[in-house]
Amino acid sequence: MNCLRSSKRFHYDAPCHRERHRPVLLEAAIDALHIRASGVYVDGTFGRGGHAAAILRRLAPEGRLWLIDKDPAAIRRAQQKFAADARCLIHHGSFAELGALADARGVRGRIDGVLLDLGASSPQLDEAQRGFSFLRDGPLDMRMDPSKGMSAAAWLADAPLSQIEEVIRRYGEERYARRIAQAIDASRQAGQLPQTTGALAALIAAAVPRRELGKHPATRSFQAIRIAINGELEELRCFLAGICDLLCPGGRLVVISFHSLEDRLVKRFMRDHSRIGDLPPGIPIVAQSMRPRLRRPAKPVRPGAEEIRINPRARSAVLRVAERLP
Ligand SMILES: C[S@@+](CC[C@H](N)C(=O)[O-])C[C@H]1O[C@@H](n2cnc3c(N)ncnc32)[C@H](O)[C@@H]1O
Repeated sequence: MNCLRSSKRFHYDAPCHRERHRPVLLEAAIDALHIRASGVYVDGTFGRGGHAAAILRRLAPEGRLWLIDKDPAAIRRAQQKFAADARCLIHHGSFAELGALADARGVRGRIDGVLLDLGASSPQLDEAQRGFSFLRDGPLDMRMDPSKGMSAAAWLADAPLSQIEEVIRRYGEERYARRIAQAIDASRQAGQLPQTTGALAALIAAAVPRRELGKHPATRSFQAIRIAINGELEELRCFLAGICDLLCPGGRLVVISFHSLEDRLVKRFMRDHSRIGDLPPGIPIVAQSMRPRLRRPAKPVRPGAEEIRINPRARSAVLRVAERLP
């Protein structure tokens, strides 16, 4: 079945409804983890378990794999698929909590590898009821964990105009952020704030004077609102701040990012921790505390043309890997 739809005005990838979730950069991610059969691994973004299943295929009975996801639907799937597998430990929550989990289990500094495949999963994007998609009309929600925090509709009803503009500009890198924020503000002043993804997409499309070829005009704003209400960048920052102490020497961190904001955080973190900072002149030896904690064993990997053809959602993916130094 051809999953690409187009209209006269936009051309964009609309995944077909029954599309399965396809793990992105699967082989590259598994290779980058350098799996030891008896090691301790973490899949911090279980999703539908494509990467997790491939990790488990390489683990011996004494190996361990933590399966973490914020989304209760992902965790239900993890329970169905892996609850009976003695190697698996399933946790509903954020990967930002990994430090506390590792302490509770006594594995701080003993984790052999962590994989993060960031962003939203195909089931989240495809299911109208989750409220992530401007292509499928549903309640304006966008929470990865609908049991916590504010829905997108509640946030838009409450946030000051300046904050909405800032979020859309910064997290969506949207040049028409002011116009879009003003249109949202005008709609709420009139008591007509959109309550569905379709209505918000239509409001944004009407506020944008010029359209980017190949992109729905609401793409950037939806990305921005999703990042803001799920605290995506804060949680990634918090995770990165603790990861060096959790990995064992030789342990690997593998991150797949889908937009420049998260990739920039990962890239800078790996770069800054794999070099010696500026030292005051005249210091003959490098203190232990100033030694790099990571090395970057491989260049970033991007999907090839064939993977993008089969799975258009992979097109913006970039995989980065770092290894904990002794
Ligand atoms: C792209 S999908 C992962 C797909 C997965 N690798 C697979 O093969 O099925 C991203 C998943 O990460 C989850 N997620 C996003 N941010 C998270 C966070 N801070 N903590 C835990 N899970 C998170 C989402 O709920 C979603 O299920």
